[in-house]
Amino acid sequence: MGGRQSKTAVSVTPSIPVTLSSPTKTDGKAERRKKFRSWRVQSNNDGGAVASLNEAWNFTGGSKRNYLKNSSKILLSDSTAMHEEIERLQRQEKLFKRIWQDNFSSPVEDKLKLGGARVLDVGCGPGTWILEMAEAYPKSTFTGVDFLPIFPQNNNQLYHHQQGIKKLENAKFLQVNILDGLPFLDDTFDFVNMRLLITAFTITEWEQKVIPELIRVTRGGGWIEFMESDIQYHNQGPTTAKLTNAVKTFMKSKGIISPIDIYTTQSMEANDKFVMGIQTKEMSCFVGHWARELGQFAVDDINKGWNSIRTPMSTLMKVKSHEYDEIVATFAKEVEQYKTYFKTWRFYGQKVKAARSTSSTISWPEQQEPQESQHKQ
Ligand SMILES: C[S@@+](CC[C@H](N)C(=O)[O-])C[C@H]1O[C@@H](n2cnc3c(N)ncnc32)[C@H](O)[C@@H]1O
Repeated sequence: MGGRQSKTAVSVTPSIPVTLSSPTKTDGKAERRKKFRSWRVQSNNDGGAVASLNEAWNFTGGSKRNYLKNSSKILLSDSTAMHEEIERLQRQEKLFKRIWQDNFSSPVEDKLKLGGARVLDVGCGPGTWILEMAEAYPKSTFTGVDFLPIFPQNNNQLYHHQQGIKKLENAKFLQVNILDGLPFLDDTFDFVNMRLLITAFTITEWEQKVIPELIRVTRGGGWIEFMESDIQYHNQGPTTAKLTNAVKTFMKSKGIISPIDIYTTQSMEANDKFVMGIQTKEMSCFVGHWARELGQFAVDDINKGWNSIRTPMSTLMKVKSHEYDEIVATFAKEVEQYKTYFKTWRFYGQKVKAARSTSSTISWPEQQEPQESQHKQ
């Protein structure tokens, strides 16, 4: 548990090559914004939308998941689907916990221990991060928000969770769509965390709504951290490339950010509410039985992930369902043969101390203190 990447944490998973990148260059802000704008124009112009793919992804019938028309966001239609999604996210959470060995990289641990710190996790999913953090730092308070009510339901501060029932008076969850605005006052949180939401928003949404809103609710001197994982595999075989190319084409058609590492740091740096020198940490995770226990865990998790998107992926790849299953089976063989791995990053930066937020770019009727979810227990 805990903050900065320690030597111990890295050595627990010796099969994982680890690169810790240093802060990005410290050009002037205007210069960095200019660079970012020109980079962004180039990256948005290299292909164009593939309209038919959007339609292919927007199915509703016969699937456990529904996909919002003209949106990258996933909706869940029934309680079975909800249950499966919670399991999938909990499995994924375990994988990333094992890769990173800790819950965050921003230098906030002392403040969390000292107490009184307010922490927000946006797109908290099943709430694992919030519950672990609330337990580890009982003197600080933790709020998780998600636009689906898949977080643990609170019954007198008793949270029913995968590891049993926890009594936590310093944790709460709200059902909120960040694109509608966060229901918190400006400058509320000391630490704002967001993990694995890169595919949830378009580039425009990131720039115009998500990043400004995260900054707005963070107090001056507070930290904002993203953890994301790449869809690009390294040392990949031809079938793996086919699968990831289909996903990348889909993402491009939706205007979803790529490549994640370059984009995220540049978009953070381009925002003048961030202190200079956004930090990046990178971990690589080997995939396959060849990479011992963690590799096995990773390949099982990824295979389950591929299976859970069988319908949209077969449509996208223009193959029958059983052909898609064969492709996934080949993927599992290829990762062993090619010694495939993927990368995951943390990007974190501090809001400038003097930058008290004065307004939100998102319309929200009235800024309110953190409030209870309207979702019924
Ligand atoms: C891949 S999951 C990650 C969950 C969690 N952060 C974790 O690391 O396990 C993405 C989560 O973001 C939520 N989400 C997507 N779009 C959202 C939005 N506009 N507002 C709030 N939550 C959103 C989804 O419901 C889902 O629970």
